[in-house]
Amino acid sequence: FMVDKGNRRHFMEKEIHEQPEMISHTLAHYVDFVGGVSKPLDLPFDFAKIDRLAISACGTAYLAGLIGKYWFERYARLPVDIDVASEFRYREMPLSNKDAAFFISQSGETADTLASLRYCRKAGMKIGAIVNVRESTMARESDVVLPTLAGPEIGVASTKAFTCQLSVLATLAVRAGAARGTISLEQEKTLVRELSEAPRFANQVLKLEDQIEKLARELSRYKHVLYLGRDTNFPLAMEGALKLKEISYIHAEGYAAGELKHGPIALIDENMPVIVIAPHDRIFEKTVSNMQEVAARGGKIILITDQRGAAHATVETMETIVLPDVPEIISPIIYALPIQMLAYFTAVFMGTDVDQPRNLAKSVTVE
Ligand code: AGP
Repeated sequence: FMVDKGNRRHFMEKEIHEQPEMISHTLAHYVDFVGGVSKPLDLPFDFAKIDRLAISACGTAYLAGLIGKYWFERYARLPVDIDVASEFRYREMPLSNKDAAFFISQSGETADTLASLRYCRKAGMKIGAIVNVRESTMARESDVVLPTLAGPEIGVASTKAFTCQLSVLATLAVRAGAARGTISLEQEKTLVRELSEAPRFANQVLKLEDQIEKLARELSRYKHVLYLGRDTNFPLAMEGALKLKEISYIHAEGYAAGELKHGPIALIDENMPVIVIAPHDRIFEKTVSNMQEVAARGGKIILITDQRGAAHATVETMETIVLPDVPEIISPIIYALPIQMLAYFTAVFMGTDVDQPRNLAKSVTVE
């Protein structure tokens, strides 16, 4: 069937804007917003009875999995082993047939991820596929298909598939927490209610388009960009860097903010903007010190934060993007948006082929 761009310049732009709706569809598949609990799901394993969860994926899907690890460990006290698929099956990690493995893929066809899936199946593990294409090979070869309801994603740079993968993972972590008794029914209801607010907040963030477009014009003048974040904003920093490099061809790196002083700080000067993803969470103050270290070396800071963060950040920035204050569990979903928009507009200013960047394919079917 045919998918068109509507009145948008690129598929990527259209797909960024579809996110509130697609996140909403995806969440509604897994949770009952009225009752505030998880919907019944026919899982081939019991979250309460497994000791570990393995997750494997590539690229942006891998970074979604990495955020999932924080959630499963935080809400369900379930240890997660995660690796990029091309490393996963070669590093001889111990696997148990009593455990489950999740594979995350927009296409459901990525060769490395599929090979990891088959490797875990051989080890006797129960297999869940978080895929956007329900007729895909991964869907067929898994014990349970956990769909993202993002609709067809055409732009090579993954946007709505990513936030829908996060939506699925967040609901699964809450479900796992309830099953394992690490969160109470009351907490489950609160988390489900917080998840239900994601589409509304995502809509609000899309309205920051003009500010982000102006900033992108500025950013397109640089050759190198560093992204920093802590906790779930660390994978998001890597996702920001991945997005920027793949469509604008500007060199970018994502680092855990705490690692700055262990190497990358040597790169800081006025020619390397540092994008800091830092909502006002329990480790915000630590990230403020990292920003001070950057500022002291003449580095230019672009801070992506919330209202409380903007009020407490005692540092001079080149630009501050202020998002609404959002509940912790939906923070990675909401903060993904400004990062995608910034990469998108930067690429538009660079004049690259945004939907079909050079050397890349939408789905990588060779190992
Ligand atoms: C994302 O922007 C990339 N184009 C790429 O990293 C992608 O996420 C990766 O190739 C995995 O693809 P999949 O989700 O279809 O498996």
